[in-house]
Amino acid sequence: APSVGLVGWRGMVGSVLMQRMQDEGDFDLINPVFFSTSNAGGAAPAFAEGAGRLEDAYDIDTLAKLPIIVTAQGGDYTSEVYPKLRDAGWDGLWIDAASTLRMADDAIIVLDPVNRDVIDAGLSRGVRNFVGGNCTVSCMLMGLGGLFKNGLVEWGTSMTYQAASGGGARHMRELLNQFGALNGAVAAQLADPSSAILEIDRKVLATQRSADLDATQFGVPLAGSVIPWIDKDLGNGQSKEEWKAGAETNKILGRGGDAGTRIPFDGLCVRIGAMRSHSQALTLKLTEDLSVAEIERIIDADNEWAKVVPNTKEATLEQLTPVAVSGTLQIPVGRIRKLEMGPEFISAFTIGDQLLWGAAEPLRRMLRIATG
Ligand code: HSE
Repeated sequence: APSVGLVGWRGMVGSVLMQRMQDEGDFDLINPVFFSTSNAGGAAPAFAEGAGRLEDAYDIDTLAKLPIIVTAQGGDYTSEVYPKLRDAGWDGLWIDAASTLRMADDAIIVLDPVNRDVIDAGLSRGVRNFVGGNCTVSCMLMGLGGLFKNGLVEWGTSMTYQAASGGGARHMRELLNQFGALNGAVAAQLADPSSAILEIDRKVLATQRSADLDATQFGVPLAGSVIPWIDKDLGNGQSKEEWKAGAETNKILGRGGDAGTRIPFDGLCVRIGAMRSHSQALTLKLTEDLSVAEIERIIDADNEWAKVVPNTKEATLEQLTPVAVSGTLQIPVGRIRKLEMGPEFISAFTIGDQLLWGAAEPLRRMLRIATG
């Protein structure tokens, strides 16, 4: 079995990745070598039998002995360690969750149910860097991939509803603490059905605006609010998250660079108070006037995880919410209908667990491809 270095396995994305690898028996196919940035020499995790001691994640010589390294340690780690490894002559496979190397010419964004052809072509021409995509992009393409792959999308726009987990574990805690503080501020009035709702609302707003409410991670309160800006300000009116939507979608589809093949894809990215599933509302202009039944058939047939939700209130409430999707690999796609703008214009709403298809799953599947 090939030796595989695992870095950042204890963080939120890393923990989900380790769980998925155990669920799928991936550890039977590799010889895992666990690294740590803070606890080298400590015991390797119990779920991998005989893995021994933790190695130092900054020790280039030890890393360079491995044919494959998988990291979910984050962008700062990649920026620091990756160039040193290549400078030392290492030519192994680098499988990474961070965005640092994603758009580099010598890296492929991995989402094999959508771009296995791009991955295979890369492997055979000697590409060594395989990077997981932005969570929103990966979840969108897992759901709508059938339309994109069949060349049916002329352009698209997405309005996102992104969960707290996209910011990190601390962001999830902050959101829950805020929910608790808001509830606590009005608990007595809530318990009294005859209390005045406008008085409750006034107290909640005062709590949200109070300097005592911890909003360190998001910068402003998220509980009971929304934040229509995610990631850096690129200075041109666009957030970095919005730029990624167009850039990464095209790169995953193998359409990067060439203006003639690029599919315009743009929209607004918004943080909402969901926990770990990202939702997005899409408007697509199709290249032809397909029936809704045909569109649904293409989406459903594309991969085993995309699943059309009938466009009814009952099915939507039951199947098309972050609460229904979190913790599963299903990518439901619903609210599919023709828009008033014309027969080629459709709406859709899709949701994905941003820690599964949005982060861990494409990496573990790439490891399978690499070791297969
Ligand atoms: N940038 C994403 C977010 C997470 O903030 O939701 C990871 O792709």
